[in-house]
Amino acid sequence: MKGVVLAGGTGSRLRPLTQMINKHLLPVGEKPMIQYAIEKLGNAGIQDILVITGRQSAGLFVDYLGSGDRFGVQLTYKIQEQAGGIAQALGLAEDFIQRGQKFVVMLGDNLFEDSLLPMIEVYRTQETGAMVLLKEVEDPRRYGVATMSHGRLDVIVEKPEHPDSPYAVTGIYLYDSSVFDIIKGQSPSTRGEMEITDVNNVYAATHTLNHRILKGWWIDAGTHESLFQASVFVRKENG
Ligand code: G1P
Repeated sequence: MKGVVLAGGTGSRLRPLTQMINKHLLPVGEKPMIQYAIEKLGNAGIQDILVITGRQSAGLFVDYLGSGDRFGVQLTYKIQEQAGGIAQALGLAEDFIQRGQKFVVMLGDNLFEDSLLPMIEVYRTQETGAMVLLKEVEDPRRYGVATMSHGRLDVIVEKPEHPDSPYAVTGIYLYDSSVFDIIKGQSPSTRGEMEITDVNNVYAATHTLNHRILKGWWIDAGTHESLFQASVFVRKENG
């Protein structure tokens, strides 16, 4: 299975740091943020990885990550000319994925404890559709939130004021190449972005959106507060 790491975006919630550098190169503990995603995929046996990023700092990604050899993976890079949302960025991976092939997508600012291996193994045997990973959180309003019934994921609501459940949809997704057809059928949301939640809801509507729940810590390091918290988690993990 191949992997795609989305590392673009404007990082507006991390200004002023992101005026100077792409969010995913900011330090978390002793490493730049992006390295955790690369290592997480590598440790799950995903060695062929596409990194999608914007123009800002693109050269620095190559400077630091290089071919991927140092991390036991093989990296390919793609530039997203303009930030247009997660689904738009993911659409750029179409040429990297063969028709019918399954793959893993990670948002580069999502850091977490669990291994990806068990989820990948389950998804390999899933006949059709996609899989999302959920995490129970204290304040779901910052995230896409899963509405569940009888253990099934019915729909995801993006940043709801009154969340239906405590389950945030993390930035870790498993798809097959059908996702690219779905993306092409989408239009931008009211905030002008192509939303990954709209894409996932196409699968949910046909009951082909499977899910698993993360057991360990998970953090979306996209704000000053959570970036700090991510460093605390990572430092604890390293003893
Ligand atoms: C994105 C997704 C959201 C998801 C979150 C996880 O939000 O739109 O559904 O819960 O990533 O990190 P963003 O952080 O881009 O606002």
